Amino acid sequence: MVSYKELGLVNTRDMFAKAIKGGYAIPAFNFNNMEQLQAIIKAAAETKSPVILQVSKGARNYANPTLLRYMAQGAVEYAKELGWEKPQIVLHLDHGDSFELCKDCVDLGFSSVMIDGSALPYEENIALSKKVADYAHQYDVTVEAELGVLAGVEDEVQAEESHYTRPEEVIDFSKRTGCDSLAISIGTSHGAYKFKPEQCTRDPKTGRLVPPPLAFDVLDAIMEQLPGFPIVLHGSSSVPQEYVDMINQYGGKLPDAVGIPEEQLRKASKSAVCKINIDSDSRLAFTAAVRKVFAEKPGEFDPRKYCGPARDLMTELYKHKIINVLGSDGKA
Ligand code: G3H
Ligand code: 13P
Ligand code: ZN
Repeated sequence: MVSYKELGLVNTRDMFAKAIKGGYAIPAFNFNNMEQLQAIIKAAAETKSPVILQVSKGARNYANPTLLRYMAQGAVEYAKELGWEKPQIVLHLDHGDSFELCKDCVDLGFSSVMIDGSALPYEENIALSKKVADYAHQYDVTVEAELGVLAGVEDEVQAEESHYTRPEEVIDFSKRTGCDSLAISIGTSHGAYKFKPEQCTRDPKTGRLVPPPLAFDVLDAIMEQLPGFPIVLHGSSSVPQEYVDMINQYGGKLPDAVGIPEEQLRKASKSAVCKINIDSDSRLAFTAAVRKVFAEKPGEFDPRKYCGPARDLMTELYKHKIINVLGSDGKA
């Protein structure tokens, strides 16, 4: 058993309470490799923003669970080296799909876990989420559960259609599971293709897709049922057009990629939404930077020469999200 406290990590409890009071959201950035981790920590340290490092089941398998734990511990030390005296860093399991996986993460130093039972029937989702919360709480590890279904890929689960969270269920669900935060479905989805072209309109000037707005009425109804309860938004990448254009310009092919407009995330951040998940934007920045180097310098074969620019672009992206979208700068 390794306690996250020994690694210098914190859980989400105080972080979320402060974020709701202060009208901002905590960034939850996924990472799979060293460059992403360096960029996240640099951005958080330079802006003094609390931050959630998220690891999916796939990322855990890719990076190796033991290595990941030491990377998170290293991240805390790196943050201090960058002049952040008391780093506020959470290590969180993203989309845990079984009790065993969540338990393993709790036992190996995670300070927060998500149990995603959203594809299960309601009562089964409650039973599984409660089992995880009961176990995790013994070690002061916080638990995120999910109600409602996001369209697209949820780790290895694929949902064709989204089902908004039903506000009439949230009190019963949160009480019976004992979860510390609730991921909801109000129209976001995972990946770089969040909406089909037929769900969007086209901007006549640019020809670009304009997505439909998020269901803020559903969010309001949920907040009315659960005043002050921490709400989480998954699938919140904005799919910046400049990265999509760069990728396409340098040999990639991402037609009609579309994300959540930043103004809507800014609006959500000011509410009880206190954790916003971003993964795809970082993947796009990484890929755009690497493609540019490959196209401009075909003779380059030192990975530092293309992963370095990718890291710089991701750092810029993370700082932009923290300062201009979530408003979490200066809060740690
Ligand atoms: O929600 C999904 C995250 O973007 C993680 O994706 O399962 O491919 O690591 P992944
Ligand atoms: P994006 O695909 O929009 O970045 O969402 C990431 C996410 O929700 C991770 O859980
Ligand atoms: Zn997600």
